[in-house]
Amino acid sequence: MGLSNTNRQLTMHEKTIQPETLPQTSRHPLWLLVGFWLCFVIAIAVVVRRLIALKNPSHSGPAQMAALDATFSAHTALTMIHIIPAAIFVVLAAFVLLRPGGSQWLERLFFPFGLITGVTAYAMSAYAVGGWVERSAVFVFDTWFLFSLGRAYLYRLRGDALRKREWTTRAVGILLGIATTRPVMGIFFATSPLTHLGLHQFFGIAFWIGFSINVAIIELWLHSRRRARLYAA
Ligand code: HEM
Repeated sequence: MGLSNTNRQLTMHEKTIQPETLPQTSRHPLWLLVGFWLCFVIAIAVVVRRLIALKNPSHSGPAQMAALDATFSAHTALTMIHIIPAAIFVVLAAFVLLRPGGSQWLERLFFPFGLITGVTAYAMSAYAVGGWVERSAVFVFDTWFLFSLGRAYLYRLRGDALRKREWTTRAVGILLGIATTRPVMGIFFATSPLTHLGLHQFFGIAFWIGFSINVAIIELWLHSRRRARLYAA
């Protein structure tokens, strides 16, 4: 019974639930909030660090880091067009996801900033440090992100609050995979004397691992939430 229930389509009642009256099963658990805020802090920190490095390029420090800084300095305009809207999008995501039913104009800004972030991410991959392994990860996860954002926007237009929220959560979960790639890269950096893997080899692998972790977590949670809602119905 449970299995067939999980596959059931959402009822009209479930579709028209407004965010402020979402059932308890729709609220975010503490572990998910902790994960969200960790990704949030990392995402903002990498943007701030990159902006500082673009303004004051440092020639000291590890050779690999200096080479990375030089790569992005060579494409300052594109990097800025990617990272500033990305940071704004992450801040908007916190408001849109954690205060459903809040300001409508913040939600209206959320979609165009997400679109800019996704489109410029494709452009950034033209200079991918991790080559084709990284580009393939960008193609898969960025496309999945933009598709989810598009679905969320469609459900917004249709006034389907529950599905809009589900696809918004999915889109933000995927996007924040970019933050998860950073500790993964940190591990690769730290272990490079042992593994002998250089930036160009591990960057792409880190992209695949980081985004996959977020996609797996967000899909498992959305699935368990949907199942809990169906059992509660
Ligand atoms: C779908 C989501 C995203 C994808 C697919 C993506 C993709 C990329 C790619 C391919 C690069 C170039 C890396 C390289 O040359 O190897 C890049 C750079 C960068 N991205 Fe994104 N990005 C995404 C979202 C974000 C978000 C949400 C932020 C932060 C709020 C962000 C911040 C940065 C920064 C700071 C850089 C410059 C490189 C650095 O400092 O590490 N990106 N991104």
